Amino acid sequence: MKIKFEIKKIKDVKAEAVASFVFEDMVDAKLHWLNTLYKGGLETLIESSDFKGRTNDVITTYTDKDSRSKRLMLKGLGNSKEITLEKLRKAYAQAAKAANKLKLSTVGFEIPDLSLIKTVVNYSIADITQAICEAIILSQYEYKKYVSKNNSSKIEEVVLFTDSPKHTREINDTMKETKMICDAVYLTRDIGNEPSNVLTPDSFADLVKKASTKAGYSVTVYDEKKIKQMGMGGITAVGQGSNNPARFLILQYFGSTKSEKPVVLVGKGVTFDSGGISIKPAGNMDQMKMDMCGASAVVGTFEVIARLKPKLNLIGLIPSVENMPGGNAYKPGDIIKSYGGTTIEVLNTDAEGRLILADALEYAANYKPKAVIDLATLTGAALVCFGHQCAGIMGNNKDLVKKLFDAGEKTYERLWELPLYDEYDALMKSEFADIKNIGPSRLAGTIMGGIFLKKFVKNSYPWVHLDIAGTAFVSEASEYISSYATGFGVRLLVDYLKNL
Ligand code: BES
Ligand code: MN
Ligand code: ZN
Repeated sequence: MKIKFEIKKIKDVKAEAVASFVFEDMVDAKLHWLNTLYKGGLETLIESSDFKGRTNDVITTYTDKDSRSKRLMLKGLGNSKEITLEKLRKAYAQAAKAANKLKLSTVGFEIPDLSLIKTVVNYSIADITQAICEAIILSQYEYKKYVSKNNSSKIEEVVLFTDSPKHTREINDTMKETKMICDAVYLTRDIGNEPSNVLTPDSFADLVKKASTKAGYSVTVYDEKKIKQMGMGGITAVGQGSNNPARFLILQYFGSTKSEKPVVLVGKGVTFDSGGISIKPAGNMDQMKMDMCGASAVVGTFEVIARLKPKLNLIGLIPSVENMPGGNAYKPGDIIKSYGGTTIEVLNTDAEGRLILADALEYAANYKPKAVIDLATLTGAALVCFGHQCAGIMGNNKDLVKKLFDAGEKTYERLWELPLYDEYDALMKSEFADIKNIGPSRLAGTIMGGIFLKKFVKNSYPWVHLDIAGTAFVSEASEYISSYATGFGVRLLVDYLKNL
């Protein structure tokens, strides 16, 4: 998809449709202004009062001969005093999807009064522009790679337009940056949707290597032998039940001096989670191809950061395995030793994500990081707790939690904090090892995941854990969130990192 910006009057925008965005409390003035412009063509529409400018209103009408677009789409934004970034996103995505229904490939989208919106939402002109652009672009994603005949129609050319030269540079710069961010979200969604017969730890590593050369960051890949030799007992144990051997990926971006402490992103990269010997029930097991969405969000974030080149150092750690019940699989009762020497009693092989993250979190300490953020589709309990509306955030540092929370509110990749009280620690005590990998059944499942990880962080750096099990993969699409892999985390992390 192409996206460009033009300073033009709505009638001069060459497209199959132009969409105008209207506040409910300004609908009369706006319709009359358009009616004059289109020489009375909107008279019947105005008389009917069918279009009120409410948040879900969208109407397509037809223009006159000397307009360069045949169709005029009117899209409501609701009351101007109640506008939010998310309402803008939803409105622009709805307009884009209305254009899809008409199978239009070139569509003009009017930029609203950014200064007015700024006074209400308290975010910058760039933030508002980004919300608009990302909604249009992200609404057009679809995963149809393996469908031979796909009849659905997508917008190929987007023209953002306004007749005012105000904010031209900000709009242009933000549009380009947002296109880049959305390309990365597309990549993250693609990886999340790829079936596990195609995406194995090894092919994932290859994919990241290729992506890194294009984007401009470096990747080191450790194979299963090296992983074992390094003492990464969690990754080794989980990976050994599969014919597709484990990989450990280290992504590096240096945008600042070598002495500057890096931020480390850790992503759970389970390319398929059958549950292992503690095997999952058959229903919906296909969805477990998504169990690397933490890792794919890390890769998407690197795509953006390597291209934006901010002054910071960033490390990505991705333990990647396939959790399978093969002849050599690890088993309940096994005691394994993590990279940092902690012994773990495995009581359920389906609690595998925390085992591979344990190695990565201990390894992260080698970088003396200024912050570590891990992303993982860790617990089904996160879905039970939050549904698809937000991810759980837990950690050992209030400031880091707050910064990510704020980034979540802005990007609408929302986070909600769960506590990691010390009192929970006792529930993870093992009779035979330093810790066991599950807590008591049905008790605070998402928190227990965080409590387990905390043991490996050892308070050696500021850390947060994001449990994205409910947000990374959804069965129903909404305005600009595609069904299946959503790409959750990329916009959130990019926003956090840009504001460091
Ligand atoms: N990958 C799953 C968590 C998951 C479930 C993600 C549903 C997305 C949707 C994870 O490895 C897992 O199996 N967790 C177990 C933990 C339990 C055994 C303590 C779970 O949630 O049942
Ligand atoms: Mn599992
Ligand atoms: Zn898993």
